Amino acid sequence: MMRPRMPRGWSAPLLWAGLLLAGLLAGGCGVGSRSALAAVPGGDAERGAEALRSYGCGACHTIPGIAGANALVGPPLTDWSKRHYIAGTLPNTPENMLRWLQSPQAIRPGTAMPTLGVTEEDARDISAYLYSLGRN
Ligand code: HEC
Repeated sequence: MMRPRMPRGWSAPLLWAGLLLAGLLAGGCGVGSRSALAAVPGGDAERGAEALRSYGCGACHTIPGIAGANALVGPPLTDWSKRHYIAGTLPNTPENMLRWLQSPQAIRPGTAMPTLGVTEEDARDISAYLYSLGRN
């Protein structure tokens, strides 16, 4: 009886490689679910909506719930709590969000997003509002 068989000792490494790949994929998704739970200490979403209007963020961004914020100069901020990265570089966490809102030019010199003089308190409120987007 001659049946073609994989040489002994091959199947185990293949199994491990498969498990490792599955683990990596599952880990990648975990990043997203963590950022979806992001909470901003001290942030007030209602004041954040007010700040988004007064800084004129809607001149460049589409922001659900903010009247007139329909622009597409920068990326739309829809479903913000589900995004993995800020400006394609920083993991989307509350701390990084505060840094980005206050000094985008320091984080990404030359980015089209201007440093608008957003105060720490306003950045917290704005973040609280933006992280409320995309939660169901
Ligand atoms: C002059 C236009 C402009 C204004 C005004 C502006 N932004 Fe931006 N914003 C941009 C651009 C362009 C980017 C993309 C930056 C990059 O990737 O380098 C960006 C990126 C962002 C991001 C990350 C988006 C992503 O998908 O990664 C957030 C969050 C953000 N802006 C929030 C704000 C808030 C809040 C305000 C108001 C305080 C604001 N922006 C004002 C142009 C603007």
